[in-house]
Amino acid sequence: MQVEAPVITLDGPGGAGKGTVSTLLAERLGWQFLDSGALYRLTALAAMNHAIDMTNESGLAVVAEHLDVSFLQNDGRTVIMLENDDVTESIRSEKVGSNASKVAAFSRVRDALLKRQRAFAVMPGLVADGRDMGTVVFTQAELKIFMTATSDERARRRVAQLLASGVNADFEQVKADIEERDERDMNRKTAPLVPAEDAIELDTTEMPIEAVVRFIEQEAKARGLMS
Ligand code: DC
Repeated sequence: MQVEAPVITLDGPGGAGKGTVSTLLAERLGWQFLDSGALYRLTALAAMNHAIDMTNESGLAVVAEHLDVSFLQNDGRTVIMLENDDVTESIRSEKVGSNASKVAAFSRVRDALLKRQRAFAVMPGLVADGRDMGTVVFTQAELKIFMTATSDERARRRVAQLLASGVNADFEQVKADIEERDERDMNRKTAPLVPAEDAIELDTTEMPIEAVVRFIEQEAKARGLMS
């Protein structure tokens, strides 16, 4: 009999710190990590490369179905390859993020990426980061977290991240982009960004990363997911 791998889902708006928290958590548990946002970003970037319009649902669905992507581990760092190009950095740009949010509104694109996401759920377990991990992709997950923070705080974190990587950023512009993306992600018809009924909602505005990770570890322990 095949045993289903345990899953912890982390959903929430962009910039809430899900990526950092889920990476740390997956490392400590020794589990797989799924960055589902990267798949939407890769779909957007592949569509941009092939001159497919962000409103062309059937074209975008074809791109999503045929996404030629690999996630390679290199010295503890994940390198993301799209059609033989290293796109680890380029998929993080604001332009790709904003287009990812547009392609993600199409149900045919979401359906095309579903199987690929579920394939990450292998033993000993999976930490899945996204918008609909607990509501659509892994409804059976043992532990579901919905992480939020105010848009001011998320913009502040994003600006700090950009400055640290040598990119200049304007706080008001970053905040406006974040709010525009929230609006689109929360109000789309397919798989909108909402907490699962059985999710724990966590406002991280005033929580350091380590405190968030510790909180989730305690919840995981309470459910017998870690020793
Ligand atoms: O988390 P991120 O910023 O990398 O995600 C980029 C976009 O992808 C985001 O605006 C919405 C979309 N997305 C989604 O619709 N569902 C997911 N599970 C993950 C991301």
